Amino acid sequence: MGISFDPENRLFFIETANTVMCLAVTDEEGFLGNVYYGKKVPKENLRYLLRTSLNPFVPSVNDRDRGCYLDKAPFEFPSDGAGDYRKPAVILRDARGCDASLFTYASHRIYEGKEELSQTARDGAVIKMPGTFAGSCTAHTLEIKLEDKALRLSAYLSYSVFDDSDAILKNVKLVNDSEETVTIEKIMSSSIDLDCSAFDGKYPDMITLSGSWARERRIDRRTLSRGVSEVSSSRGESSHQFHPFFALCEPGADDSHGKVYAQTIVWSGNFECGAAIDQFDSVRAYIGTGSRHFSWDLRPGTSFQTPEAVLVFADGGFDSMSHVFHDLFRSHLIRSPYLHRERPILINNWEATYFDFDTDKLLAIASDARDRGIEMLVMDDGWFGNRNDDNSSLGDWTVNETKLQGGIERLSDELKKTGMKFGIWFEPEMISPDSDLYRAHPDWAIAVSGRRPCRMRNQYVLDITRKEVRDYVFGCLAAVLDKADISYVKWDMNRPLSDLGSAELPAESMGRLSYLYTLGVYDLQERLLERYPELLLENCSGGGARYDAGMLYYSPQIWCSDDTDAIERLSIQAGTEMIYPLSTMGAHVSTCPNHITGRNVPFDVRAAVAMSGTFGYELDITAIPEEERAAIPEQTSIYRQVSETVREGDYYRIARAAETGYYDSWMSVSRDRSRALFTYIQCRAYPGGGSRIVKLKGLDPEKKYTLTPVGYDTPGSRFCSREKKEMWEKTDPGTVSGSVLMNAGVPVPYMHGDYGQLMLDIREA
Ligand code: GLA
Repeated sequence: MGISFDPENRLFFIETANTVMCLAVTDEEGFLGNVYYGKKVPKENLRYLLRTSLNPFVPSVNDRDRGCYLDKAPFEFPSDGAGDYRKPAVILRDARGCDASLFTYASHRIYEGKEELSQTARDGAVIKMPGTFAGSCTAHTLEIKLEDKALRLSAYLSYSVFDDSDAILKNVKLVNDSEETVTIEKIMSSSIDLDCSAFDGKYPDMITLSGSWARERRIDRRTLSRGVSEVSSSRGESSHQFHPFFALCEPGADDSHGKVYAQTIVWSGNFECGAAIDQFDSVRAYIGTGSRHFSWDLRPGTSFQTPEAVLVFADGGFDSMSHVFHDLFRSHLIRSPYLHRERPILINNWEATYFDFDTDKLLAIASDARDRGIEMLVMDDGWFGNRNDDNSSLGDWTVNETKLQGGIERLSDELKKTGMKFGIWFEPEMISPDSDLYRAHPDWAIAVSGRRPCRMRNQYVLDITRKEVRDYVFGCLAAVLDKADISYVKWDMNRPLSDLGSAELPAESMGRLSYLYTLGVYDLQERLLERYPELLLENCSGGGARYDAGMLYYSPQIWCSDDTDAIERLSIQAGTEMIYPLSTMGAHVSTCPNHITGRNVPFDVRAAVAMSGTFGYELDITAIPEEERAAIPEQTSIYRQVSETVREGDYYRIARAAETGYYDSWMSVSRDRSRALFTYIQCRAYPGGGSRIVKLKGLDPEKKYTLTPVGYDTPGSRFCSREKKEMWEKTDPGTVSGSVLMNAGVPVPYMHGDYGQLMLDIREA
């Protein structure tokens, strides 16, 4: 494991436990190529994969047909305009207006450790960027310096690995060593040239996650062909619509089999990622911030830092890919002290009251909730300024004392008396046209002068690229957090960016705005956590429009979607879980008919689906049917019993509702394989169907296990009804080995009606 250089053959080996990436430098001109990435192979001489031995393709030898090489070589940092016509990783425009560039090897260094990423923003502020860190294990880094001698630019390509992970982390820093400004029109975090041979000679399938508001991250799969297949966001956030992730896999790959190459990026703004298959069936797979709403005037002596890309190769299908992402994020990205802690079970008042609440109403919800095992009240939107609907007051973060009589202090004190924790909602990055803030500082909204900016949810975006604006926002947050005992903040962002103009940015730097905006978000969240290190931060963006690895650096949990319908959530959560640990998914039980879909789903099924994330409720507990209120104490107690396995365990996907049409199923298995939680959700009646046999995953084949439906031992359980108990007694396999459970399976009884749940607590006998 680690990183090594073979000087004789000019080869770099970047190794993890099960994978290796090999880079090679051509002899004469020093082009850097990616000659192999995949399953671990011995560190032998792989130079032949550079194809320089195949005359007439060596450019220095065959200057007459130089393009034959440049348009075919497996470039590791492909540029534009000099003979490679494929999708470039970098586009540069020099002071003469020309856009040709070509990079060659200059030097390298290999070191133990991994450096933090940062970027100089406006006003000389250096902003730390989110990124993975070594944590309790060792990191190894290879930094390769490439240069374009004509432009006098250096590109530093960094590759890091951790001892306990199969991921490779990659970023690029561009430094202008010349006396002239060069404009970066595009620069990607990673681009690698694979070949269809990586997919056994076939065109790969591509997996992406796509959706809309209330329908985030559903899994899409398509077979690629020649040309470009790409997903992107130009909204200034990672977005509801597409996700900064893609996986290329063998056409037959499934959850348990097949080679998968996946990439994501530690970034929360614009992105572009995908694969381009060229005339020779070579596959260029890339990820980065892309070219939309971006240009960066790289002045002499300055540098530009890309976000970090995460590259994963897995040989055991999508489950094995998910394990690498989940473990990487838990061990090397999420910093929160809550990472391994049991999260408080919360009740959020958004779907309970929307804007119509006061202190008494909140306290009534809180006291009822506390009696049923809920631990924290989260006061959502509407507690400040004159905010009685979503048309005003963003930016005016002063408590509305008509609603909160006695201020936030009284609410906080009263909650404390009842033993409830207190959480609060903010939308710090926004400004309402109808706000005191906007009346005082109209130039603080992002806008193009002379053009009325596009309103979305009747709000504008604050220009947090400006330090004075960030200072104002931070001051508002701190003033509220200092006044009351607040343990949790829900940080929301309810509209994408548009009309990119900043009142004080010179024209030549305006193309920086969107990138600087994301840095501004990071700066604010970093300051918040520095000042309140024990704060539990949950990011949110109109549901899950900013659910990404960048945000996980700041918040251990993210609101998954505004769609709380348990059946819709099956597909949303299945997509999210492909990359993100279950412990990061905010998932709440809400009331029925569901406010978004109108669907009615039994209370226990709603809870079973929410229990695979960070669990909570989002309903008026004082108004739901008595039967549901009475079920909550058992649900909260079940969550406490299963939450450790969900939070710390390995995730396995058994079936997806989107594919079966009738059921959805997944598992969390403890690291030592002594305990597991199996969840099965029936999402449509299956007439004529008897019980179904489902094969389990992830258990130790040698160990013996017992299986108990969750709630089975609770007298009068509402979670495991008498009928379910009786059905289980007829089908319980008793004490059986992991091998039997994984190869022969367990019977899942058919549940009458459209919807049903079976959760099995699986323990080593
Ligand atoms: C967004 C969030 C919701 C809620 C509302 C409040 O839509 O996703 O959970 O906080 O804003 O306006």
